[in-house]
Amino acid sequence: MRFNHHIFICENLRAEDDPKGCCAAKGSAAIRHAMKSEIKKRGLRAEVRANAAGCLDACEFGPSIVVYPEGVWYGGVTEGDVTEILESHIIGGRPVERLLIRDTKYNQELKLGK
Ligand code: FES
Repeated sequence: MRFNHHIFICENLRAEDDPKGCCAAKGSAAIRHAMKSEIKKRGLRAEVRANAAGCLDACEFGPSIVVYPEGVWYGGVTEGDVTEILESHIIGGRPVERLLIRDTKYNQELKLGK
């Protein structure tokens, strides 16, 4: 497998008056930059890839991120959460519970600790 983890960060941008809003307006580019920089700092570039994504169809939870191959969805992520996502989830294998999207359409019940 080329990468152990693929982190997709929604950077979709919509018009300011669009009722759906968008992750780009909530700072997702800064999240991706921080993620890439932290991945590099930890020497994980061969194993982990962070990419900008278009709309992930989780707009109301944005900024939205999905991590594969696990299919773990995070919402309301800030730049300040990047280190925890990398250390707890990517390195430690424990998804960051408090950032999981609380909707079983995205995260199954098991992952939500129910
Ligand atoms: S705009 Fe980010 S999930 Fe739709």
